[in-house]
Amino acid sequence: MCGIIGYVGFRKASTVLIDCLKRLDYRGYDSAGVAIIDKKMKVYKEVGEIANVEKTIPKLDGTTGIGHTRWATHGKVNKENAHPHVSCNKKIALIHNGIIENYKKLREELEKNGHIFTSQTDTETIVHLIEQEYKGNLEDAVCSVLKKLKGSYALVVICEDEPGKIVGARKESPLVIGVGDNENFLASDIPALLKYTNRVMYLDDGEVCIITKDKVTVFDSNKKQIKKKENIIDWTIKDAEKSGFPHFMLKEIYDQPDTIHQALRGRISEINRSIEFPIRVEKLLGNGIDSIHIVACGTSYYSGLVGKYLIEQLTDIPVIVELASEYRFFGIKNKSALVIAITQSGETADTLAALRQAENSGCKTLVITNMIGSTATRISDGFLLTQSGPEIGVAATKTFTAQIVVLFLIALKLGLLRRTLGSDEAYHHIIGLKEIPQQIRQVLEKNNDILDVAKKISHAQSVFFIGRGINYPLSLEGALKLKEISYVHAEGFAAGELKHGPFALLTKETPVVAIVTHDATYEKILTNIGEVKARGSPVIAIADEQDTDIINQADFVLSFPSNNDLSSCLSITVILQLLAYHVANLRKCSIDKPRNLAKSVTVE
Ligand code: G6P
Repeated sequence: MCGIIGYVGFRKASTVLIDCLKRLDYRGYDSAGVAIIDKKMKVYKEVGEIANVEKTIPKLDGTTGIGHTRWATHGKVNKENAHPHVSCNKKIALIHNGIIENYKKLREELEKNGHIFTSQTDTETIVHLIEQEYKGNLEDAVCSVLKKLKGSYALVVICEDEPGKIVGARKESPLVIGVGDNENFLASDIPALLKYTNRVMYLDDGEVCIITKDKVTVFDSNKKQIKKKENIIDWTIKDAEKSGFPHFMLKEIYDQPDTIHQALRGRISEINRSIEFPIRVEKLLGNGIDSIHIVACGTSYYSGLVGKYLIEQLTDIPVIVELASEYRFFGIKNKSALVIAITQSGETADTLAALRQAENSGCKTLVITNMIGSTATRISDGFLLTQSGPEIGVAATKTFTAQIVVLFLIALKLGLLRRTLGSDEAYHHIIGLKEIPQQIRQVLEKNNDILDVAKKISHAQSVFFIGRGINYPLSLEGALKLKEISYVHAEGFAAGELKHGPFALLTKETPVVAIVTHDATYEKILTNIGEVKARGSPVIAIADEQDTDIINQADFVLSFPSNNDLSSCLSITVILQLLAYHVANLRKCSIDKPRNLAKSVTVE
């Protein structure tokens, strides 16, 4: 978590840092701060939004500085614990993302040596250590301190005695270098930089960099210089802006006809009725797989559950889906399993740990991510990008549907390779997928109907979501979306399980959202709806538009276009997202930045 930015160049650092931090606040918004070398080291920090710090910064001409937006791990949310942290002599300032595991011991030693601490953070230890080691050269001091640290870090340091220089280092937390003309940057995420540059270099674990306004130098822990490749990012600043929408989340929901098209782009050959992936991925999928383990966290985990359903429907491969935080400790060690990690950010600490665990067990690994150059892409045997553009809203929306599209393509590819899927059937699914962007447009046109239903449930204390088969993970995701942005308690259930416990919680005030599709489960879910109605709970059915009977069973119906294909799960998802969005908006919640959450969870 925590957003990081460093700037050295010709512009006023204060303006650039605040600008970039505002694009990073989805990483954490407990507190924020900047340090700028303006002859002397000047530090400003405040609790809460970045605007709170912005107000306190006077006019400064300094052109070197660092900025941080915090998601608290060690130490309460207060001004003292906000970054940057400074050395006792106030000449060195540092920001950090990650966790220093041995900080207590290091702090005790430093305190014995006379260092005075002003916060409860693990981070402050690092700046005092650097001060202790500093003999006139910042990178030398940083390198010797890194040897003492246990844990994870992306850290960025400046020193008043060496203005015009920033030193950065990373281990298991993201840090990229933004390359400009007569200016350079360090950042935890690419969207922060897009206004200024689309040229980036990715730092790898164990690497240290020095940036000045006209030079970037990278070296390894033995101070051996490394030549880094510059990459051009094809995202634009417009992709990272609201474009007239009141919230990023709503914009990202409306982006989906386009992002689904992008996720399909270049991967379908209608003529050959085939799915085409980069050669490395083709090799992984063609490689005598006897099972697939999908690992992920949060919303990505739910797309993994949808993926299990798709792969098991279209192939003969058994799929296990595990939460990455569990898999890393308890995952089944089966060398011939293909491990697929799904992660929007490519930086979720638990997912990376699960990937490393899989690699150590001898498994081949494939990553589905939205972030080119992310750690996940670099520690796996192959990766597929969701190609969704930057997602800023903390609650994942467009990347969830794009992940499902990529998983669907993987299922089709495997089905064709293993001949569990005929060419005609594959073609039917390909056509189904290609129709999805248009069908999502039709769902978006019914936004007002969804708003009307949201008004009916916005005062509920608890909402249930139910579905069967592929609609079960959609129910879990629908409930997660609602709870994370509206703070309404919500649970997703496999519809058949209600009577094994959850029924006890149902009251007349508990709306139940039921996903109803015309498949083998249709009659059963109607029975479940009947059971719910018998207890007086209002039912909102999400159903195929051709289902004219459903209105007799449910209190409200939200319909999606028929396509007789598994891909209708994508249209259903958009209804669930809009329902959560409107409830949260009616309840005046902080939609893009829900309390206590962060977009990218880089701590375990
Ligand atoms: C956080 C975000 C979720 C996301 C999860 C996994 O909890 O708030 O929206 O689903 O992390 O993130 P990843 O980047 O690995 O998909």
